[in-house]
Amino acid sequence: MTAEPMSVAPDGGSCAEVTIVLDRKKASVSQVTGETLLESARRAGMSPPFSCEAGNCGTCIAKLTEGTASMRVNDALDDDEVADGYVLTCQAVPETDRVVVTYDE
Ligand code: FES
Repeated sequence: MTAEPMSVAPDGGSCAEVTIVLDRKKASVSQVTGETLLESARRAGMSPPFSCEAGNCGTCIAKLTEGTASMRVNDALDDDEVADGYVLTCQAVPETDRVVVTYDE
């Protein structure tokens, strides 16, 4: 596994983090390069909603309240939803060191 330059702090240590809010519970895990928000939520011990895991159904939708993420595939959200910060968590990979995503909105 190679280090992701974007997620390395000036002192060389990684401080990149994903925070997930689900059912009014909050959990944070360190970012793993290439890991989707859905995978991060599962790794945090949560049970986020999902179905196709292919970017088609929209079951895994959540909203970014901090940071940005890029979707590999988006066949479910329209441009307005994306502009509002909604992402398909099964396809979204963090672009910023700090990402907060909520399934509760
Ligand atoms: S699980 Fe179907 S779009 Fe993410």
